[in-house]
Amino acid sequence: MLQPLNFRALGAATLLALVVLGAGLAQAAAPAKGNPAAGKTIFATKCVACHKADGSGGVKLTGNPTPNWKDPKVWADPVRKNPDVFMRDCIQNGKIKSGMVAWGKTGQLKPQQIEDLIAYIHTLAKKK
Ligand code: HEC
Repeated sequence: MLQPLNFRALGAATLLALVVLGAGLAQAAAPAKGNPAAGKTIFATKCVACHKADGSGGVKLTGNPTPNWKDPKVWADPVRKNPDVFMRDCIQNGKIKSGMVAWGKTGQLKPQQIEDLIAYIHTLAKKK
């Protein structure tokens, strides 16, 4: 009578250990999901000059102007098929020719801050 019970307890403990381990690994591999409120604070100091407070952009420096994140056509562009990957790459590596800073590569922003900014930019796209 004791044995099936023990097996069940062992199974549950193993499952729990796997879940905890899995969560730990996932967190080590990628930063946690972005916090838009934290992103907003960074955006207000580092990004508004070129992207405008409402994200409508249109500021041209040396190449492409900043995109208008309020325009659904911008998001429909195939280069943004996976918008988070596209934005992460741009914030990490910049678009030097156009004047967009390589925030991540130059160490000016940490991976978590980049995720926070991506989350905030999504809220700009939604706001009318
Ligand atoms: C000095 C001006 C400038 C500043 C400051 C700046 N950007 Fe940019 N950014 C640009 C320009 C110009 C582009 C367009 C690049 C291109 O398409 O070639 C761009 C493009 C982007 C893109 C790609 C967007 C898209 O959908 O095409 C993202 C994401 C982005 N910027 C995020 C940020 C964030 C986040 C900050 C603040 C940490 C920031 N930028 C600060 C000039 C700037």
